Amino acid sequence: MPDRPIRPQRVASSPIPSSPTGAEPPDLAPPVRSPRDAVLAVRAEVAKVVVGQEQVLTGLVAALLVRGHVLLEGVPGVAKTLLVKTLAAALDLDTRRVQFTPDLMPSDVLGQSILEQRAGTASFRFREGPVFTNLLLADEINRTPPRTQAALLEAMEERQVSVEGAARALPDPFVVVATQNPVEYEGTYPLPEAQLDRFLFKLVMAYPSAEQEQSVLARHDRGLDPHDLVAAGVGPVAGPGDLRRARSEIDTIRCEEQILAYVVSLARATRESPSLTLGVSPRGATMLLHAAKAWAWLSGRDFVTPDEAKAMARPTFRHRLVLRPEVELEGGTADGVLDGILATVPVPR
Ligand SMILES: Nc1ncnc2c1ncn2[C@@H]1O[C@H](COP(=O)(O)OP(=O)(O)OP(=O)(O)O)[C@@H](O)[C@H]1O
Ligand SMILES: [Mg+2]
Repeated sequence: MPDRPIRPQRVASSPIPSSPTGAEPPDLAPPVRSPRDAVLAVRAEVAKVVVGQEQVLTGLVAALLVRGHVLLEGVPGVAKTLLVKTLAAALDLDTRRVQFTPDLMPSDVLGQSILEQRAGTASFRFREGPVFTNLLLADEINRTPPRTQAALLEAMEERQVSVEGAARALPDPFVVVATQNPVEYEGTYPLPEAQLDRFLFKLVMAYPSAEQEQSVLARHDRGLDPHDLVAAGVGPVAGPGDLRRARSEIDTIRCEEQILAYVVSLARATRESPSLTLGVSPRGATMLLHAAKAWAWLSGRDFVTPDEAKAMARPTFRHRLVLRPEVELEGGTADGVLDGILATVPVPR
């Protein structure tokens, strides 16, 4: 179990006395971890509670690094909520969860002005909705009608909430993880393509392997309570400051012209694909660039290679594609089409 300080702190009240020889005093501050070590520690911390699901965890971390929103698809009970809550705890982030129901109103998500009576005078005060958080878990987003979906999506895009003419900034980071259940279509409101395009990734949470599932059961058998993360030994091993430092490192990652050209070729190939009626927008292409940079940084590199663009193409592009109905009827999938495109578009070397 890593037993590290959360954030190295200097004690301001006890200044280090200068040495009689005039030499520089030794730096007594604990060694500062690199932001990358901090982010890697987060993955280890989450693994204390969540078994497997490493790809989804890495995707969520990459999304936080580039401030991208995530669509998370998976059947009930595969630990979508548990993963997001544990990640927030390990990163010392504020998190809220909203269950999207058919009667949810925009003000239930954004907040509203309320009339306050105090000492005989009445005044309006804005009561922040659950969107004012770092990591918002929007559970079953397609169970709520378009008006409330649109209110959330606007906040996601603008990173602020405008209510009654006043704009209020959302915290930094602000990342939405919206869950969708792939099996129930009855009584749901699928997100329109224009709104899907605003999500950086669509991540798919699969069932665990038999071995992993047995390990989940063994943890429960030993008395693990997934609702008590503190008792499970999960604590903050990194914080928003680490994310900010990571982001400025990612900004310096180099990306050669030929990689930019490769990303453009991938996006254009989706637009030209005979299997699709809608391909990837230029916004989708820029998102792939940012995702590839984050992936290169996580891999410890300071430049992007075609491998990073390839690795991020599926999660970044899959929800932006619309299959031709006949392709869908024959069992075609967005991932299948993307695999074909990745296999045919020439890779720069
Ligand atoms: N990979 C896993 N690692 C650890 N626990 C797991 C895993 N998969 C399932 N579980 C167990 O299943 C429980 C249900 O998880 P959770 O509530 O997070 O599921 P969910 O995907 O959010 O479901 P829903 O779609 O109904 O909201 C967890 O509390 C945990 O005990
Ligand atoms: Mg859940």
